[in-house]
Amino acid sequence: MANGEGDQYDSSRIASSTIAGSATSAVSDETMTRISRHYFTNDNDRSSGDGFSVDIIENIQEEYGMFVWPCAIALAEYVWQQRSRFSSKSVVEGVDQLGAGTSLPGLVAAKVGANVTLTDDSKNPEVLENMRKTCHINGLRCRVLGLTWGEWDPPLFSLSPDFLLGADVLYDNSDFDDLFATATFLMKNCPGCVFITAYHARSGHHLIEYLMSKWGCKCTRLLDAFSTVPPTKASNLHGSIQLAEIVLNDHIT
Ligand SMILES: C[S@@+](CC[C@H](N)C(=O)[O-])C[C@H]1O[C@@H](n2cnc3c(N)ncnc32)[C@H](O)[C@@H]1O
Repeated sequence: MANGEGDQYDSSRIASSTIAGSATSAVSDETMTRISRHYFTNDNDRSSGDGFSVDIIENIQEEYGMFVWPCAIALAEYVWQQRSRFSSKSVVEGVDQLGAGTSLPGLVAAKVGANVTLTDDSKNPEVLENMRKTCHINGLRCRVLGLTWGEWDPPLFSLSPDFLLGADVLYDNSDFDDLFATATFLMKNCPGCVFITAYHARSGHHLIEYLMSKWGCKCTRLLDAFSTVPPTKASNLHGSIQLAEIVLNDHIT
């Protein structure tokens, strides 16, 4: 469980200084860690007093899961802009982020009131521990679970999401079937569940069309993610990022 009272996280070991938009800190030589601060505001106007920031602990020595990838920035912004769908005032029971890594989209969902579970590969305890620490420094009480795609471990059966979030989880085609096996299992278990994912578009719409057909899903929304990101953030992002909302074929809206 995230944010246990005994979570001994020493944030003083990380030097932090912010810059505009999504900000990065100086890197601590000792730990190779840094904190990046990400702002979510109306019209990207931090002086308006609306919105909030989320601090993310990154470790530049580690691989995939300890770095905020551009897709996470795009998906987090989408969650912020669509926040009325994730607020606890609506019917949302749960938001689960798959392959969450540093967890920015899930933490934004938690900030706007959703009941959030952050998951990543159970074989990577360092990433899971980093997620707990990141929740802690943001004062958020998310659940943190080890969940490996395509494996049917007990934690999978404890999830009942209204939304699945996945940022940059479509990058290795040897994992696509495992990811969709897990995602569609959860969607079948939780009628109405919507899987929202941001991914690098390397093959136009072919990849997503192929996966939809293979896994009995359909896209209800397919966007150029840059269309949702404010210019100050977009200028730090590269490549072509698409954002898809995916439901099962028999989903009724
Ligand atoms: C490119 S990183 C993206 C991290 C984060 N979502 C982001 O966008 O910043 C891919 C993430 O998927 C996780 N992952 C890779 N294979 C996985 C698997 N088989 N089961 C669960 N998670 C996996 C990695 O640990 C990593 O956190």
